[in-house]
Amino acid sequence: MLLTAFIPLVLAALPSLAQDIVYDSAHNATTIVGTWSTGSKAVSTGAGFANPVNQSFIYPNTTGVSYSFTDDGFYEISRYRFNGNGSEPTCITGVMTWVHGTYQLIANGSIVMTPFGDGFQQVQDPCAAVSNFIQLYNETELYQSWRIFLDPVDGPKLHLFQFDGSPVAPQFQISATPNMLPTQSLINNTASDSGSLQSRSQTKRSGGERAWTPTGVGALLVSLVTVGAASLIL
Ligand SMILES: *[C@@H]1O[C@H](CO)[C@@H](O)[C@H](O)[C@H]1NC(C)=O
Ligand SMILES: *[C@@H]1O[C@H](CO)[C@@H](O)[C@H](O)[C@H]1NC(C)=O
Ligand SMILES: *[C@@H]1O[C@H](CO)[C@@H](O)[C@H](O)[C@H]1NC(C)=O
Ligand SMILES: *[C@@H]1O[C@H](CO)[C@@H](O)[C@H](O)[C@H]1NC(C)=O
Ligand SMILES: *[C@@H]1O[C@H](CO)[C@@H](O)[C@H](O)[C@H]1NC(C)=O
Ligand SMILES: *[C@@H]1O[C@H](CO)[C@@H](O)[C@H](O)[C@H]1NC(C)=O
Ligand SMILES: *[C@@H]1O[C@H](CO)[C@@H](O)[C@H](O)[C@H]1NC(C)=O
Repeated sequence: MLLTAFIPLVLAALPSLAQDIVYDSAHNATTIVGTWSTGSKAVSTGAGFANPVNQSFIYPNTTGVSYSFTDDGFYEISRYRFNGNGSEPTCITGVMTWVHGTYQLIANGSIVMTPFGDGFQQVQDPCAAVSNFIQLYNETELYQSWRIFLDPVDGPKLHLFQFDGSPVAPQFQISATPNMLPTQSLINNTASDSGSLQSRSQTKRSGGERAWTPTGVGALLVSLVTVGAASLIL
């Protein structure tokens, strides 16, 4: 695949990159502004994926990830992933994540995405004591590098490389204008009501009713269940 040939090139180029990255047609055939989505494009940022006010999700038909960027520094991510488990093949963890905030294109070619604090994720782990719950997701994410190529058939194609250099699946531009929820915190995130944010159990309406199909067993940039978070649910 083209992608695997591309990674060593990027890694090899990094040490010699003493000067700032140049954003030109060789680096990014178009700007990063817009909405991007992987594969079947079933996952998109914006109103069709998550409702932060009541921390609920609308489950897409297939897994995928979607990123949006505005021209004035805001981002949003929707992710729907499955995680395999080598030692327990039936223990497939599903994670839905929604988060938004502000991003910075750093001169060294990296991107830093800083969340507003109203992000959340639903974790479904059929083998865990609590198999289905929602928790706060507020991780600052570093992407080491990014490129946008022009695919002759599919048009602009965004490649993001995570903090450890592993690639996010290539994303196609599904809209040149970003399709996003309002670019501000959508909940009242005060100390007094933070209890509602931390974690709550989810018994009926959720992935438990859905068939589990491990389509995308890829790298997952989420912090999974911690003992602390799990104990809050009980
Ligand atoms: C590459 O991205 C930068 C930053 O978004 C943008 O200013 C520039 O116009 C882009 N280059 C092209 C060729 O679109
Ligand atoms: C959350 O709010 C949306 C929009 O008002 C509604 O459609 C959905 O049923 C709500 N979900 C839950 C779990 O309350
Ligand atoms: C999933 O697929 C069904 C049947 O094609 C369709 O009716 C439904 O709207 C899809 N759901 C989503 C969230 O796209
Ligand atoms: C795999 O499943 C086992 C048994 O539930 C669990 O102890 C282990 O942490 C899981 N590994 C991963 C990587 O999720
Ligand atoms: C979320 O992370 C941001 C950036 O680190 C921080 O400023 C904010 O206080 C955090 N919010 C919550 C609710 O943890
Ligand atoms: C770019 O700078 C950031 C912040 O200093 C750093 O975390 C990141 O690793 C750097 N990226 C590269 C490719 O060196
Ligand atoms: C936050 O609280 C203020 C004052 O209580 C209220 O006017 C506002 O609508 C709330 N915003 C959200 C997103 O709930």
